[in-house]
Amino acid sequence: MPKLSVKDVDVSNRKVLVRVDFNVPTEEKDGRVSITDDTRIRETLPTIQDLLGRKASVILMAHFGRPKGAPVPKYSLKPVAERLAELLEAPVQFSPETIGEIAEQRVKSLQPGEVLLLENVRFHNDEEANAPAFAKALARLGDVYVNDAFGAAHRAHASTAGVADHVTVAATGLLMEKELKYLQGELASPAKPFVVILGGSKVSDKIGVIKALMEKADTFLIGGAMAYTFYRALGIPTGNSRVEKDKVDLAHEILALAKEKGVKFMLPVDNIETQEIKAGTTTARNTQRLTTERGIADGYEAVDIGRETIELYRKEIAGAQTILWNGPVGIFEIPDFATGTVSLARALAESDATTIIGGGDSVTAVKQAGLADRMTFISTGGGASLELLEGKVLPGVAALHDQD
Ligand code: 3PG
Repeated sequence: MPKLSVKDVDVSNRKVLVRVDFNVPTEEKDGRVSITDDTRIRETLPTIQDLLGRKASVILMAHFGRPKGAPVPKYSLKPVAERLAELLEAPVQFSPETIGEIAEQRVKSLQPGEVLLLENVRFHNDEEANAPAFAKALARLGDVYVNDAFGAAHRAHASTAGVADHVTVAATGLLMEKELKYLQGELASPAKPFVVILGGSKVSDKIGVIKALMEKADTFLIGGAMAYTFYRALGIPTGNSRVEKDKVDLAHEILALAKEKGVKFMLPVDNIETQEIKAGTTTARNTQRLTTERGIADGYEAVDIGRETIELYRKEIAGAQTILWNGPVGIFEIPDFATGTVSLARALAESDATTIIGGGDSVTAVKQAGLADRMTFISTGGGASLELLEGKVLPGVAALHDQD
């Protein structure tokens, strides 16, 4: 059953309590916290602006970092309120309390067309415990609840789930809808060929996604350290590369499953290997094409896919109609080992397919390559997108009210 959308709720002259994900990366310098990537804040602007345009009073709540249930100054949302005000080009009020007298007073005096941000919900233990009393106290602050925090929708916390039990209206925000449209709707029956690129360091993080997508994907392109657990399963030498030894059997199982289903499951045929993981290393060298006899050299660790693999993967990408990418295919944070990841990002940018970047480090990589605006959709979720792709129900979505 589709969830009630904020678009279908009368919000005029009402207090609308909106859960957003403002868990943004920051940098601390000389005691000042500055935001290094404001994408998550920008992505909530359509919902906030829509509500303001319809004369609602907007009360925003969010978590920031993991302060473990007590106030921690560096996790205050105050700098986020300032950044939001710049982006909205309008004042954003701030409540130094999440619930309680000050918060209630600020909410009471909030006028239609005004915005208030509450202090970090995780300054209270009861948030992560999803304590009903805390959820109720939050619910009291609004007439309508909207969840636009896709990135936190896999958490069954008071502000993401519990609160919905204590309000008369609980609806999805516009960002939440967009995320669900691409990561769920679009991938339910993707235009074929459907190519899934998976990278990152651990197979264990991606097992659920691989299994869920095995039913739909035509091709998997594997990169990152997770590839070398598959090498081990195939008996290819892995040198010093990271291998999850306790997942080798599972890697076998996945390879067998792909074979059984007729899904192309591609592993790197060549790699960049190095003796030392550091920028400007002189020991990095590109291997020749790998064979089962000649894998990664002793004393070397694979840190990126090689040139031939890039070419093979580019061909698959060029022929795809739908592409989902989660996880870089090398240690892209170090420029020497970023070629594979950047080349694939370029291939996606040049493709006519629907390109969906499923959250986490691959988002950072696409942005670093300056190609973010060439993708069809980039998720703001990390853990939440993985769980959704695994086919799990997200508590933050499940808690919302159904459409009539
Ligand atoms: C995220 O950054 O992935 C979300 O905001 C969730 O944060 P959490 O992992 O601390 O719950």
